[in-house]
Amino acid sequence: MNIKKVMVIGAGQMGSGIAQVCAQAGYSVILNDLKEEFLERGMGVITKNLSRSVEKGRMTEDEKNAAISNLTKSTDLQDAENVDIVIEAAVENMEIKTKIFAQLDEIAPAHAILASNTSSLPITEIAAATKRQEQVIGMHFMNPVPVMKLVEIIRGLATTDEVYQAIEDMTKSLKKVPVEVNDFPGFVSNRILMPMINEAIYTLYEGVATVEAIDEVMKLGMNHPMGPLTLADFIGLDTCLYIMETLHEGFGDDKYRPCPLLRKYVKAGWIGKKSGRGFYSYS
Ligand code: CAA
Repeated sequence: MNIKKVMVIGAGQMGSGIAQVCAQAGYSVILNDLKEEFLERGMGVITKNLSRSVEKGRMTEDEKNAAISNLTKSTDLQDAENVDIVIEAAVENMEIKTKIFAQLDEIAPAHAILASNTSSLPITEIAAATKRQEQVIGMHFMNPVPVMKLVEIIRGLATTDEVYQAIEDMTKSLKKVPVEVNDFPGFVSNRILMPMINEAIYTLYEGVATVEAIDEVMKLGMNHPMGPLTLADFIGLDTCLYIMETLHEGFGDDKYRPCPLLRKYVKAGWIGKKSGRGFYSYS
């Protein structure tokens, strides 16, 4: 399979990062979102990241301009009609994702791969919304995409070896490390990470220690680059809650029950860095 043209759906923190690394690797990238203003914001972040790389001597001005020229904006899913792969990074919601995949199935060429950057939703269920289940796969990037090396690749029940291999090759071309996992709730990354974050929130909820103390223990004691509560704010508490609910529902085991404090923060709209307030304040 020869992948050259990519559409990335969603210009948020994950989608813009994915579009950036694809454009840097020489792919022709269409960045798609619902509104022009979302695209402008995403393109702004990409330009800022690339300029920083030039300042730091990691790339030349010419390489930056080449990456930017590989990017085009789109608010119309119909623009998927010529692409070789779509990487969907829309909101974590099964109804929205299946709707997008069903539409893409009608629009994208027959050979195109439909990949999802979902952080925990079943790939097999997303694939079932299409008539090309063997060409649907999970391609789970980590945040911040330009920095983090891992891409978790998740095979749906019907994904073919050929499609898996094409995604593994593409991941390597992005200078990332592919790791193959099976389609179970939370895959590997979030099955392990989110219960740890949830437990950190329980630790706060039960008054065992302050926000700062919990983060300090995990940073200095376990050598984590960020404490779990800082990381939760960074990921978004709404996303953390959604993933915990997916694990709880998927496994039916009470050990995945979301902490009531996490629910309360999300209800208050304190969803972390993106809203200006989570476990910490950002102004
Ligand atoms: N976009 C692009 N580059 C970024 C960035 C961003 N959002 N954030 C930081 N960077 C770059 C910085 O520019 C800096 O680069 P330079 O070499 O040019 O200075 C470099 O990363 C290091 O940044 P900082 O010095 O500011 O800070 P740091 O050393 O603490 O590193 C970090 C920042 C890489 C984010 C680090 O704190 C870290 O690894 N944190 C944990 C991240 C993590 O666990 N991610 C996974 C989240 S879970 C997930 O994504 C899956 C899911 O489904 C929820």
